[in-house]
Amino acid sequence: MALVTGASQGIGEAVAKQLVDDGYTVYIASRNTQHITQTADEIGALPVTCDVSDASALEKMFSELPPIDILICNAGGPPSGLLQDISDEQWQQAFELTFMSSVRMMRTVLPHMQQQQWGRIVCLTSTSIKQPIDSLVTSNTLRAAVTNLVKTVSKQVAKDNVTVNVAIPGMIKTERQKELMDADPNFAKRLEGIPMGHLGEPEDVAHLVSFLVSKKARYITGSQFTADGGYTHTIF
Ligand SMILES: NC(=O)c1ccc[n+]([C@@H]2O[C@H](COP(=O)([O-])OP(=O)(O)OC[C@H]3O[C@@H](n4cnc5c(N)ncnc54)[C@H](OP(=O)(O)O)[C@@H]3O)[C@@H](O)[C@H]2O)c1
Repeated sequence: MALVTGASQGIGEAVAKQLVDDGYTVYIASRNTQHITQTADEIGALPVTCDVSDASALEKMFSELPPIDILICNAGGPPSGLLQDISDEQWQQAFELTFMSSVRMMRTVLPHMQQQQWGRIVCLTSTSIKQPIDSLVTSNTLRAAVTNLVKTVSKQVAKDNVTVNVAIPGMIKTERQKELMDADPNFAKRLEGIPMGHLGEPEDVAHLVSFLVSKKARYITGSQFTADGGYTHTIF
C-alpha cells in the first residue's frame, strides 16, 4: 500500500502514476477534493483529501487509510522570497508545510513498517539543499532540515529493512516551476546552467522514486539522489 502526498498534479502525480504502473495500490492526497479525485480517476489511484500542513487533517487521513508500506512525502513548495520578505507567520506556515508534515507522516507510518520488517520512505526536496537558491530562503532552510531528519531516522530504522531517502528534483516542468520562473528574473541564467540544456519532466523524478522504493534498492538508505540534468555543481 503506497501513499503519495501533494499528488494531484506535477511531480507527485507522476510519482503516483509510476507506482500504479509498478503494480502498487496507491493513495494520493492533496487539499482540493475535486482535483485529487479527478487525478486519481485518471491514473488509477485512490483519492484522499488532506492538507499535510495541518496536524489534525493528517491524523484524520491516517485514521481512514490502511497501513502504509511506501510513503512519499511531498507537497507544494514554501513561499519564495529573501530573508526580509518572509514574515514570522509565513515561516511558521512553511515549517508546518515542509518540515512538520514529514515528521508527522513518518512518525505515523514507521511503527507498521518496522513491525512488518519492510518499508520505504522517500521525501521529495530540492537542489536548494545542496546549492541554496537566493530567492528561496524558506525552501533552502527547511528542506535542509528535512534532509537531516531523513538521515537521522534512516539510521534508527535500518535494521528493520525500512529505507528512508531523499529524491531531489532539479528544474522540472510543472505548475510550481512556472510560478518560480515568473518570479525569478535570473531564471534564464539558471536554465543555461543545466548541462543537459532543458527542463526535466515529472517522469524523470518518478523513475528515480520508483527505483528507491523497489526491492532492488534494499541496501540504499539515508541518502539523497538528484534528477536534475546535471544542474547541481556540488559532488555531495
Ligand atoms: N517543479 C520543480 O522544478 C521543482 C524543483 C525542486 C523542488 N520542487 C518541489 O517539489 C514539490 C512538488 O513540486 P511540483 O512542481 O510538482 O508542484 P505543483 O505542480 O505546485 O504541485 C503541488 C502539489 O501539491 C499539492 N499540495 C500543495 N500544498 C499542499 C498541502 N498543504 N497539502 C497537501 N497537498 C498539497 C497540490 O495540490 P492541492 O492544491 O490540491 O493541494 C499539488 O498536487 C514542491 O514542494 C516543489 O517546491 C519542485
